[in-house]
Amino acid sequence: MIKTKLSTQPYKGTIDMYPEDVLQKNYLFDVWKRVAKSFGYEEYDTPILEEADLYRVKSGDELANNQLFNFVDKGGREVSLRPEMTPSLARIIAAKKYSLILPIRWFNIGRFYRYEKPQKGRTREFVQLNIDILGVSSIEAEVEIIQFVMKVMQELKAKEGTYELKINNRYLFDYLVKDLLKIEGELKDKLAKAIDNYLKMEKSTFNEYLKEIGLSDSQRDTVLEYLNWEIKDLVNIKDTSRGAQELLALFDRLEELGVKNVRFCPYIMRGLAYYTGTVVEMYDIGSKENPRALFGGGRYDDLLEIFGQEKLPAFGLGWGDVTTLDYLRTYNLLPELTTDVDVFVTLMDESFSSDISDIANYLRENGLNVQVQLTSTKLGKQLQYADKKGIKWVVIVGEEEIKEGIVQLKDMNTKQSYKLKKEELIDRIG
Ligand code: HAM
Repeated sequence: MIKTKLSTQPYKGTIDMYPEDVLQKNYLFDVWKRVAKSFGYEEYDTPILEEADLYRVKSGDELANNQLFNFVDKGGREVSLRPEMTPSLARIIAAKKYSLILPIRWFNIGRFYRYEKPQKGRTREFVQLNIDILGVSSIEAEVEIIQFVMKVMQELKAKEGTYELKINNRYLFDYLVKDLLKIEGELKDKLAKAIDNYLKMEKSTFNEYLKEIGLSDSQRDTVLEYLNWEIKDLVNIKDTSRGAQELLALFDRLEELGVKNVRFCPYIMRGLAYYTGTVVEMYDIGSKENPRALFGGGRYDDLLEIFGQEKLPAFGLGWGDVTTLDYLRTYNLLPELTTDVDVFVTLMDESFSSDISDIANYLRENGLNVQVQLTSTKLGKQLQYADKKGIKWVVIVGEEEIKEGIVQLKDMNTKQSYKLKKEELIDRIG
């Protein structure tokens, strides 16, 4: 039954965006897009609707079983709003693999949907930048995307010491479970989950939990030791662990390039099932406000296999708007943006309508965003409107100005006025 009184609230876990909110979001999106393009990444897109099975094969239980926004369409197909981009990216690459030129460097900024409990940093609809490189098996793929990340942080004016890129490698975890603990199956999965929650648990609870899932005392000691490993400790196992080898090579390259704000963290696991090697997550480390990752990503060299294709080495990440805007707000890094209208043209008398249209069009042709007053009212009211909207420049055209062939330009910030010819406006506005 349809409710007779509809709510003005958005659907649970989603956010309405008024123009000033969109300006802030676009500030972030513009940086993402500009920097991605500057690294030679090309923009692509995929449908928001996908077959639900796409996420059942390799995204992992949490996402595939609990978080899908899925439904059966009128043709009986099970459909889902996309919860992430990576399976769609793999699908469109698999569909055209033989005609695509490698390496593929692609990015997308799009909306995603997850049925999650709404909380700080978690909504049911959000935007991710996805940036991925496919066809490069060496750690140079990781190095390039990490350089991209650092450039974005620099453009966003993020201060060193307030963010950290935490890096691990799934092969190192494999080394822990296979070579050191000699465990597999369910116990291995339970340990992965426990390590994923390591930072969220008290040390004693974590210990207790390891005991509960069935690890012996000495196995627990080994896990705790593993969690304390630093990058230099990996040298000892370089010859036996592919993960150690790849991490050492990656950190060497990052040091060579002077990349700061990166740390090897053996507790970074990543929930998604398709990751194969390097895994990364970016965190706010300067405050306690934002415990969730700004982005997460990793290597997924085997994902194309779900479409019956050969493997294709791949590395990339998904960067969320909600967590990143929270981070930018915490450190006051969002510019004060109230409007992107540059000029307001007043109307003193309806007989001047075509004169002000001429001026407005002239300004628009010169790249400015211009609003015009549509019905004549008192000048004071029109100035008040421009002021409230935060529009910096006002063009005033009265009878006198028309006679003299000039216009009056008012700077609403300094309250200064200038009498100028139409052609002089652009230079003055700058
Ligand atoms: P993910 O860790 O599931 O990875 O999500 C990446 C980022 O998306 C998170 O760090 C967070 O910023 C944002 N995010 C995820 N869920 C939500 C939510 N419910 N509300 C707000 N923000 C959210 C992936 O999605 C991988 N497919 C990323 C990837 C790309 N891996 C390789 N290429």
